[in-house]
Amino acid sequence: MLVVVVFGASGDLARRKTYPALFALYRRKYLPEDFRIFGYARSELTQEELNAKLMPFLKKHAITQGDQELLGRFLGRCEYISGSYNSPSGYVALKEKIEALPTEDTGHEYDHVRLFYLALPPSVFTEVATQIKSVLYNDRYQNRLIVEKPFGRDLESSNALSQALAPLFQEDELYRIDHYLGKEMVKNIMTIRFSNLFFNAVWNRDCIANVQIVFKETLGVEGRGGYFDEFGIIRDVMQNHLLQMLTVVAMERPATLDAEDVRNEKVKVLRCIRPLHRDEVILGQYRGSADGSHAGYLDDETIPSNSNTPTFAMATLFVENERWSGVPFVLRCGKALNEQKAEIRIQFTNVPGCLFPNAARNELVIRVQPNEAVYMKLMVKRPGFDSQPIVSDLDLSYADRYVGLHIPEAYEALILDALRGDRSNFVRADELQNAWRIFTPLLKEIEERHSIPAEYPYGSRGPAAADERLKELGFLRHGLEYSWPKQQL
Ligand code: BG6
Repeated sequence: MLVVVVFGASGDLARRKTYPALFALYRRKYLPEDFRIFGYARSELTQEELNAKLMPFLKKHAITQGDQELLGRFLGRCEYISGSYNSPSGYVALKEKIEALPTEDTGHEYDHVRLFYLALPPSVFTEVATQIKSVLYNDRYQNRLIVEKPFGRDLESSNALSQALAPLFQEDELYRIDHYLGKEMVKNIMTIRFSNLFFNAVWNRDCIANVQIVFKETLGVEGRGGYFDEFGIIRDVMQNHLLQMLTVVAMERPATLDAEDVRNEKVKVLRCIRPLHRDEVILGQYRGSADGSHAGYLDDETIPSNSNTPTFAMATLFVENERWSGVPFVLRCGKALNEQKAEIRIQFTNVPGCLFPNAARNELVIRVQPNEAVYMKLMVKRPGFDSQPIVSDLDLSYADRYVGLHIPEAYEALILDALRGDRSNFVRADELQNAWRIFTPLLKEIEERHSIPAEYPYGSRGPAAADERLKELGFLRHGLEYSWPKQQL
C-alpha cells in the first residue's frame, strides 16, 4: 500500500501545498484507491483539528458534489500523529501504525513506495532525516525523501546539510524540490527547444542577443517578513527558481530524457558560470507606495528598521561556452512591483542588412504565469495598402488553445514525479552546490559590507538603475507601438 508521511503537517507549506496537491492527485485518480497519508508534527492536534486547518485549501479542489464525497474519502485515509522531531518515541508510534497496514500486493505501481515529505524548517531537517532512517526506513520498500528549500544559506551551510543527509539517504532517494521545475511552462522548455527544428537552429549566440528571466510579485512582505528578511530575494527566488530556469534554457541536449542525463547537462551549464560580485547586480528595497496606501519594507513590524535585505535584485550571468559566450542572461526578481508575473524573454539579434530600418527584434516569450503562454513577437507588413512593418505575434495562449484544460499545480506535478520515481525535475546535490558557488561571494559581500540597496516605490518597476543596466546590456525596447493581444490598425 502506498504510504505518504508528511512531516510538518500542521505548518503552512503542508496546508497550502502538500495536502491540496495530494488531494488533487487523488481526485484525478493518480493515486491508488488504497493509500495512507500520515501527518506528523509537534502540535497536539486531532485529525479533525488538522482537517479544519486544511479545509480552506482543500476546498478549492472540491467543487462538485462528487468532489465533496471524494474529499471525505481522502480525509478518511489521513491520520495525524503528534510527536517530537528529535526523540524516537513519536516515530516508533508512527512505525507501528504503518506496520499494522495490510501488506498484500494490490498490483499497483506505488504499492512499494514510502514517500517521506519534509515540509519543515531546515533547523530540523537533519534530525528528522536521521530518525526516519533509523526508525521508519524499510529496505523492502522504495523509500523516497522529499525536501524543501532552503537548502542552507550559502555554499558552506548547504554542503554541511548535504553531508549530513548523504550517509542516511542515497542521492537517488532524495528529491529536492524547486517547485518552479514543476510548473507546466518550465517543464515545457525542453519540449519547445528539442522538438522544434526552428528554435533548435537559432538557439545560440549568433541569433540570441539576450535572455531575461523575470519574476515579479505585486505584494511585499505584508507582516510576514521574518523568514524573508533572513534570506532576501536572492536566496528566496534567484539562486533557485530563476537559476533553474536559466539552466533549462541554456543546457545542451541531454543524451536521453533520463534524470541523470538531464541533470548532467544542467550542471555543465552551472559550471560555465563564474561567481557573481556586488558590482554586477542591482539591488533594491521597496519604500511606501507613492499614494501612501502601502507601507515600505522597513515600516513593516516584522522587519528590523536597519535591515539591508534586498527585496529586488537584477543580476547578469554569462554562460562561458561555445553556444552562449557573450550573451547576457539577466535574472530579475522582486517583491512589491507593478505586476505579478514570471516569464522567460529571449530577444533575438537584429536582422543583418534588414530591408526595413525600423524593424523590431524578434522575441520569444515563455510566460510561466499567470495565463501560461508561448508567444513570438515578429514583424509583419501592416495589413492593407501599406508596406511598413508592424510588430505582431504568434500567440499560443494556453487558455484559448486548450479550452477547459487543467494545468496541474507545480506541487501536483512534482509529487506525481516523485511517486513515479522520476527525478529529472528535482535538484541534484551537485546542482545545488554549483548554484551556491555562483551566489555565495555576492551574498557575503552584501552582508559583510552592509551594502545598501537602492530604493524603489511599492508598486513600481523597481529601481530605475535596473532599466538603465538592461539598456547597457543591449536589450532593445523597440519604438514601434505594440499592443497585445488586440491591435488597432
Ligand atoms: C517561494 C518563495 O519559493 O516562491 C516565495 O519563498 C515566493 O517568496 C514563491 O512568493 C513564488 O512561487 P509562485 O509559485 O507563487 O510563483
